[in-house]
Amino acid sequence: MNMESFFPKDIKAALQNNPPGEWIPSVPAHAIRLHSGYPAPHLVPSMELKEAVAQLLEEENDLPLHYIGSPRIDKLKEWVRSRQDVRGMPAKDEELLITAGACQAIDLIARIFLDKDAVVVVESPTYMEALEIFQNYTGRILTVPIDKDGLQTEKLAELLEERKQKGLTKPTFLYTIPTFHNPTGTTMTVERRMHVLKLAEEYDFLVLEDDAYGELGFNDNPKTLKSMDSKGRVLYVGSLSKVIAPGMRIGWVHTTETFIQALFWFKKDLEHPFAQATMATLLENTDFTSRLQSLSGAYQQKCQVMLEALEKYLPENASWFVPEGGYFVWVKLPGIDTEKLLSNATEAGVSFLPGKYFFLDQTEGAEYIRLSFSYEGEENIVKGIEKLGNVVHSNLK
Ligand SMILES: Cc1ncc(COP(=O)(O)O)c(C=O)c1O
Repeated sequence: MNMESFFPKDIKAALQNNPPGEWIPSVPAHAIRLHSGYPAPHLVPSMELKEAVAQLLEEENDLPLHYIGSPRIDKLKEWVRSRQDVRGMPAKDEELLITAGACQAIDLIARIFLDKDAVVVVESPTYMEALEIFQNYTGRILTVPIDKDGLQTEKLAELLEERKQKGLTKPTFLYTIPTFHNPTGTTMTVERRMHVLKLAEEYDFLVLEDDAYGELGFNDNPKTLKSMDSKGRVLYVGSLSKVIAPGMRIGWVHTTETFIQALFWFKKDLEHPFAQATMATLLENTDFTSRLQSLSGAYQQKCQVMLEALEKYLPENASWFVPEGGYFVWVKLPGIDTEKLLSNATEAGVSFLPGKYFFLDQTEGAEYIRLSFSYEGEENIVKGIEKLGNVVHSNLK
């Protein structure tokens, strides 16, 4: 029996465009991992989570193991609500939905707002997973480039005006990672944030703000688009993956009650009581402000070590944006096809992500790589960049 004959046309096309296993070459276990956007292992609160699980089961017995019933599910939402409040985004209970990470939030939003005729605008480059999610719903994705100050809003304005003049479909939403962007590490300026909100009003579209790294500033955390939005146009997506642990799968959406009701209706995987109640217990026992301070200090130090190593080991024509937070450095290696470079690099014992994966049009980005300073320790970061430098130099010859 040909199992594939059961797939509808759209699903077949999606699978044909993305053959399993061909996405990124596997990274040998011994390689220094500069490709992954994982938190540093020692900054993941494993012991605290172990204690939280024990405390939760001791106090609630089987409650968090049922579909509903653990009081801590509400407590997690209350924690998120007060965090939003602290960050200048006061929310009513009905304006929040807890999800299985930011990815589920983005997927649900795409599910609600997109069909195959819908138009979405994304930054170029952008977070590849979000790009894939949108591609599952529509082929009509438009891109606007990023520079050191984030999304180039003048170019967004031109695009919107051109479409208006030509009578083309207006975008349903703009997907943006304004703060400590993945993959470029850039942060959108306040002026550009205001411009985005003005354009959203003028051209009548929504803004999907992905704030996965928003609390990981080395010095300050810029004000979110949501906190500047008086018109209710911003759908805010938050996550505890980068500040607690990605495996817990806790994220959320903050938007209008009407949108939350729609998202809730289509969220058919029910709650995740055990993960949510465990997270609530952990947070009860965590001084979150001091946790953020130590994360920011640790990541700033790792970033500094990486930047110094880049200066030392990469050729002079290499360039990069200096991040003010987050996990990533976006490096340009003129004259190098970075996808080809990757197999040499992994053989030499270091990994990175080739830039092309972050572009809708994968003929772009060939000279770029995304390096992550979050996962490895300082010594390995330096060793890894030295190895990378050697491989780059030998590819230039
Ligand atoms: C910009 C961005 N959004 C969302 C996510 C995923 O977040 P979560 O683990 O909460 O699904 C990531 C993870 O790399 C990311 O870089």
